[in-house]
Amino acid sequence: MNINIAYLNDSFLPMEEIHISPDDRGFLFADGIYEVVRWYPGFFYDLESHMERLKKGLKKILITWKDADSFPAIAQKLIENNNLTESNALIYLQVTRGVAPRRHSFPSPAIPPTVFASAKSFTPESFDNESGIGVLPGEDIRWKKCNIKSIALLPNVLSYQSALEAGFSEFVFIRDDFFTECSHSNIFFVVDDTLYTHPESDYILSGITRKNVIRIAQKTGIKVIEEPMHKSRAEEITEIFITNTSGEITPVIRLGKNLVGDGKPGPLTRILKELFRSEICMMKGSNGKKM
Ligand code: PDD
Repeated sequence: MNINIAYLNDSFLPMEEIHISPDDRGFLFADGIYEVVRWYPGFFYDLESHMERLKKGLKKILITWKDADSFPAIAQKLIENNNLTESNALIYLQVTRGVAPRRHSFPSPAIPPTVFASAKSFTPESFDNESGIGVLPGEDIRWKKCNIKSIALLPNVLSYQSALEAGFSEFVFIRDDFFTECSHSNIFFVVDDTLYTHPESDYILSGITRKNVIRIAQKTGIKVIEEPMHKSRAEEITEIFITNTSGEITPVIRLGKNLVGDGKPGPLTRILKELFRSEICMMKGSNGKKM
């Protein structure tokens, strides 16, 4: 049996030996951030962008992790120690403000953060991913700093669960009558052969997949407009897809009770999925470098 090796504060240990104090501010206050990075057999997908988002996030919530630059080496070691080199895997990283008696104010003097990371293999979803999913629209009940990859995910968890229980595969948030993003993915719409997605702002997480899909679309000559989509335009929308690290591009064929287009993944979605896939294949041949 394979032992699951994880990382905690400078040590690599079997998962069973990882102990985190109940006084950890992540546990008490959800006072921390996280990252999810994908390992394709042979390389991490756009690790530079994940590093950039991680550092920005730490800065925004005023956590100092002086060894943040060691994360790529930690992630690589987790892949190797867990024999995942030839697998599809996800690295989870969480950095919290550390362990201190419960008090809202930051610990003073400052204490080291808690840094935890783990690796798990996963099988990319193929069925849903090909045939498309339904998403349930509803109110965006989150705070106004959604661009911070905060571990405080209760609104996302509750919204996602409500979607699952209603027979949908994702929940799409609506704020002030505009679609923002989903519980754990970004969302794109096609109207008149143009791709629309919410601009980077405090109302969405700047997804790494989102950024790369925009790059690939523009390189291919597809027009991209980073503008919020008003819910009243739902009938004009011919295609929808969502993006995230684990699912890449997933077609959406149902928005609430309405079919999107003819209820099948549309042509732009299919083209972008193919281009994304072929870029991954090329990266395999060049150790993760974008071509
Ligand atoms: N979620 N929006 C939200 C709210 C997310 O939680 C995520 C990712 C995304 C897509 O970001 P990216 O393309 O960088 O994965 C957008 C991760 C996968 C999670 O919580 O597990």
